[in-house]
Amino acid sequence: MASGNIMRLDRLLTTLGEGTRAQVKEMVRAGRVTVCGVPARDSGMQVDAGSMEVRLDGRRLEYKAVRHVMLNKPQGTLTAARDKKQKTVMDLLPPLYAAMGCMPAGRLDKDTEGLLIITSDGQLAHRIISPKKDVSKVYFARVSGVLGEDDIAAFAAGLHIADSDGAFDAKPAGLEIVSTDGACSEVRVRVSEGKYHQVKRMLASRGAPVVYLRREKIGALSLDPALAPGQWRELTEEEVALLDV
Ligand code: URA
Repeated sequence: MASGNIMRLDRLLTTLGEGTRAQVKEMVRAGRVTVCGVPARDSGMQVDAGSMEVRLDGRRLEYKAVRHVMLNKPQGTLTAARDKKQKTVMDLLPPLYAAMGCMPAGRLDKDTEGLLIITSDGQLAHRIISPKKDVSKVYFARVSGVLGEDDIAAFAAGLHIADSDGAFDAKPAGLEIVSTDGACSEVRVRVSEGKYHQVKRMLASRGAPVVYLRREKIGALSLDPALAPGQWRELTEEEVALLDV
């Protein structure tokens, strides 16, 4: 049965990062590529990538129509599909992901670390980002200053933010004080919207400017602690289901 993934053989191999179009042509000419067990003779032949068995040097090539990546975004990279001057999160992945239309679902500031989903599924990205979906995001922050019960209550009531970036009424949010030493505090903030510099502005409005920020959770999905900043992996099916809200 056709799966809707019909494309040229050379496009399949280049998308999977196996070489340039010219290199793929040469691989086919050399008899290294088989389609359903038969050596391919034309790199321009049409294949159904979802259902036909394509092998290179005997190795089965795995084609997936959609890809979802969990990245531990490092500080110093831009959350953007591309940028002329600066390194973006897409530069941390093999070219296959950009070729398949993967894009970051939402945005973390350049100096923010942590959980970022990069996906080729626009609907999934929309579910993660849309304020209407109310998907919560949990951040760990180190701030200068001391926060207390009145700040927890102010977050829960909904902060009014008015600063040099503009004004808005934040939805009620969670604030948990993890530790404090009299000069600095470590906190967890739970928000369900993503206004510009939202968490930094909320904490600054309480006299506690952020010195370090990391996203730990999106909805029920947690950042894999095995991923160091800059590392990534594809989401499992169970993890994708956690985002299906
Ligand atoms: N809030 C911020 O202030 N920055 C981020 O990167 C994410 C949420």
